[in-house]
Amino acid sequence: MKKIRFGTPEEFVPTKFCKNLNYQETDIQYDLSKITYKQTNRGCVIELPLQYQEEVYGFGLQLKGFRHKGTKKTLRTNSDPVANTGDSHAPVPFFVTTNGYGIYLDTARNATFYCGYGKNKNRPPKPNNAVTVTAEALYEKTALEEDTVMAIEIPYAKGIDLYLFEGDTITDIVAQYNQFSGGGCDVPEWGLGVYYRCYVKSTGDQVMEQAKYFRDNQIPCDVIGLEPGWHSRSYPCSYQWDSERFPNYREVVEYLRKNDFHINLWEHAFIDATSPLYHEMKDHSGDFEVWQGLVPDFVTEEARKRFSDYHRKHLIDLGIDGFKLDECDNSDFVLDWSFPDCIEFPSGIDGDVYHNLFGTLYMQTMLEALGEHETFSEVRQAGALASSYPFVLYSDLYDHRDFIRGVVNCGFSGLLWTPEVREGKTKTDFIRRLQTAVFSVQCLINAWYCEQAPWLEFGCEEEVKALLNERKKLIPMLKKAFEKYHRTGIPPVRALVMDYTADPETYGIDDEYLLGDSLLVAPMTAEQTQRRVYLPKGEWTDYWTGKTVPSGWLDVRTDNIPVYVKAER
Ligand code: GAL
Repeated sequence: MKKIRFGTPEEFVPTKFCKNLNYQETDIQYDLSKITYKQTNRGCVIELPLQYQEEVYGFGLQLKGFRHKGTKKTLRTNSDPVANTGDSHAPVPFFVTTNGYGIYLDTARNATFYCGYGKNKNRPPKPNNAVTVTAEALYEKTALEEDTVMAIEIPYAKGIDLYLFEGDTITDIVAQYNQFSGGGCDVPEWGLGVYYRCYVKSTGDQVMEQAKYFRDNQIPCDVIGLEPGWHSRSYPCSYQWDSERFPNYREVVEYLRKNDFHINLWEHAFIDATSPLYHEMKDHSGDFEVWQGLVPDFVTEEARKRFSDYHRKHLIDLGIDGFKLDECDNSDFVLDWSFPDCIEFPSGIDGDVYHNLFGTLYMQTMLEALGEHETFSEVRQAGALASSYPFVLYSDLYDHRDFIRGVVNCGFSGLLWTPEVREGKTKTDFIRRLQTAVFSVQCLINAWYCEQAPWLEFGCEEEVKALLNERKKLIPMLKKAFEKYHRTGIPPVRALVMDYTADPETYGIDDEYLLGDSLLVAPMTAEQTQRRVYLPKGEWTDYWTGKTVPSGWLDVRTDNIPVYVKAER
């Protein structure tokens, strides 16, 4: 890897906050003279060439797009992206290409990447009198037909640090980016089991009943999550137990622990006036509120300390193992509930930059609270250099196909994503979503608005039980994959193009992924009765039957989730 500095970089950039940054300069092949930099009155611009047939991937949790060549991506934190624009719960200014390199730009601004735009002033005339009748055909980009340019604009900045990584495969390149970020997170074994988040209105007694249901019926469940109802006030948060719903909170925690459950509590960081944290955090917050709550300035150590000390003393010491850090993203398309970009904080950070760093700083605050206590938690915003944080991203969106694309995409950017299951439109929909969750990094059933376990309405308890038992069987393999992630930076979930970068057949595959060293998973959505699966060159067997399967494209018709095992190399 190599760092190249252009101009004078800004103060609040992701490397400033990355706890375990690990920069080790190496020789690189890339001809750096091909990268140009200029300052404009809008910020700064970097340009580099993209070759004909060079493909571009990455940019964080992209739910709406995969193969980015020919597209424009503005990396802005947003909880409800509606199109393939770059808006994301977790945008990351890092991309990799099929030509053996990846580039990370150290910025938390809403940078725009123009991935393959033309800049040629010497075109030979090419007569073509064809006309077309669709807008798509009219505006189709020609990026895939010739050499083009990647132009990256960073607003406001007067300089930027660029990091270049090289490798034979995309997996090699991403592993180095993750090593630079401090390595992949290691997670406790229990975190790889089954998570169930209880109905938001549950009382302490009802939570214990729910837990008993799992044990009585031998349905696997390792982590019980409590949603906003545990707080005496939740929008904004009090971080105190509600005396009507949870008068017996100590008993509930004890009961869950005694029965081998780990406990995760929902919260967001906006602090209610009834909270003991309110007065403590008043001078350590921004000048705008969210839902009349304080917005803490987690940039400063003092703010993080006050917030984390409270959590340690009142919740972690009580027996809580993790948190679901909600609403630390932003919303521009639906309800626009978060703080404005013009908010001012004591640390001097801008609102737009804070939106892109909020989740990471929040995770860091909670890890400071947890200390040596292991966790595998959830967060709704993350960004650059986040691979060492044991947190998984999730969303209120719910398109199953987009969720699968999320699984496939996260591995490019040092992120983890759960395709969580809530309800199902039909039994098939529910089961197929659960199959995807079982073969993912975090098997999460988020029943926050379901009065009863969501499978009961479909009468498919036995199928659910069988699938969750399958999950239990995967734990040793997943644990090994996380240990490897921690050690080498190789992510536990990877798009096919990451390992098989030399195989162009994999370039467009955004609905299959590699899990751990040897599994290939090809989920089905409720709309599909059959699907095509691509198995790259190698020896494969069917996970369910153990039968040998030839590599190449297969037509698969099944009610089960297609999974294949690669022979050990
Ligand atoms: C949402 C979150 C959901 C659930 C809900 C509770 O913001 O994404 O998963 O926790 O809040 O109010």
